[in-house]
Amino acid sequence: MSSTTSNSLSRRESWRLLILAGACISILVNTFQGDGAPLIASIAFSGIVFAIAYSLIRWLGPVFIKAGLKGRDMAKPRKPEIPETMGAVCAIVYLLALIFFIPFAFYKDIVAATSGGGNRDVVLEVQHVETGRMLHRFPHGRLASYLSGLLSLQCIVILGIGDDLLDIRWRHKVLIPAFGAIPMLIVYFVDFGVTQVVVPVPLQPYLGPVVDLGWLYYAYMGAVAIFCPNAINMLAGINGIEVAQSLVIAILLIANDILYLAPITPFPHPATDSHLFSLYFLLPFVGVSLALLFHNWYPSKVFVGDTYCYFAGMVFAVVGILGHFSKTLLLLFIPQIFNFLYSTPQLFKLIPCPRHRLPKFNATTGLLDASVTEWPTQPSPLIATGLEVLHQMRLVRITKNEKGEIVESTNLTILNLWLVWMGPMKEDRLAWSMVGVQVVCGLLGLFIRHRLALLVFREDNRTFGVFGV
Ligand code: UD1
Ligand code: MG
Repeated sequence: MSSTTSNSLSRRESWRLLILAGACISILVNTFQGDGAPLIASIAFSGIVFAIAYSLIRWLGPVFIKAGLKGRDMAKPRKPEIPETMGAVCAIVYLLALIFFIPFAFYKDIVAATSGGGNRDVVLEVQHVETGRMLHRFPHGRLASYLSGLLSLQCIVILGIGDDLLDIRWRHKVLIPAFGAIPMLIVYFVDFGVTQVVVPVPLQPYLGPVVDLGWLYYAYMGAVAIFCPNAINMLAGINGIEVAQSLVIAILLIANDILYLAPITPFPHPATDSHLFSLYFLLPFVGVSLALLFHNWYPSKVFVGDTYCYFAGMVFAVVGILGHFSKTLLLLFIPQIFNFLYSTPQLFKLIPCPRHRLPKFNATTGLLDASVTEWPTQPSPLIATGLEVLHQMRLVRITKNEKGEIVESTNLTILNLWLVWMGPMKEDRLAWSMVGVQVVCGLLGLFIRHRLALLVFREDNRTFGVFGV
């Protein structure tokens, strides 16, 4: 393929994208009547952002390379250089779409707040104006929530692009998302403010039915906002994995949201609004991510960059926190939580941590195998014993020299662990395996959330109370 065709759309692609965008725009225009149809509009927006992001990612490749935003694909024989930070394109298209979506999301309320027909000229009695009745007709709280989510995402995208440009060290960048979380934590405080958690039945005799965690609950939400973006960035390094895991999480969250919407659940459910809010953020996210996946799946034409990882993680943190289901969210992050905990010895430098821990490409076989960290000096007896035990449990693979000294040990990431277990494999097979793990763990998480929770909690909030589990 020549360089001119590789970054332009084929005729077939152009027609398909045009038809998709055209159909979505006509659906969108039709939602501007009656009470409006925000959910349909959001689906239409997802189609439109898909078409735009898909085209832009294709067209902007050379521009990004020229600007120095490029990376080497380490798992290919020739290590080709391809554009990086394409997640920034997705994030910007997404943010603009979410801003443009505001009138669609609040169409019904805007009409109601302007006296029924969109007119502002209805005479209101003075006492009504003074008591602020007119203001209360519009759900300012919901708009504030939506805008704070947008603001948090904007912060993270700016910081993410900064990281991609300047390659900030990871121990500095773990805290980046904390700043992004501030707007939504404030809105949570002012608007919702629930800091109680339901106590599992066996503990209720000691703690009572609910425990108020107070400020600790905010610390916990801040931690969720720091964890999600970094966790996605750490489960990275092979083609397609960052986007694929995010898509699986997003689709499972969408499935969870649908459980709360009519007609499956008695309507109006107290959590309907939060789950609609979540859908408005997730549907366009799926649109832009799919467009990226087409270019990032094996063999990658573009890399997503840290911007995408942070952005994706923050979308999940925003919907989890402002949609009041941050604990359910964590159940969909089981592989990422495992990957993080498994990485801690390297993150805290108990075991040397090379700049890159992605699996190692073997040019002779064309397969990936677990990458290793070398031990120039022998580990302390405690760590050596720990590694030995992990090796016996097949949780790590160590290589020793003839004197019985450890010379290298595999890097502690879930990708390398999978390769230790299953043996070397092709890059796309490894990516598919991770998608499988994510789907199985996610479905298990949702099952725990809606079924097993009944064993330790009195009720599942899908049918009764308002507290999340
Ligand atoms: C994180 C990981 C690091 C891993 C890296 C891979 C931690 C603490 N850090 O670092 O161990 O090596 O992600 O993304 O867990 N790349 C490929 N193929 C791919 C994707 C990326 O070869 O499919 C390479 C490219 O050279 C690309 C680079 O990884 O330029 C991107 O790495 P970067 O996102 O900057 O690494 P970190 O997020 O800092
Ligand atoms: Mg990264």
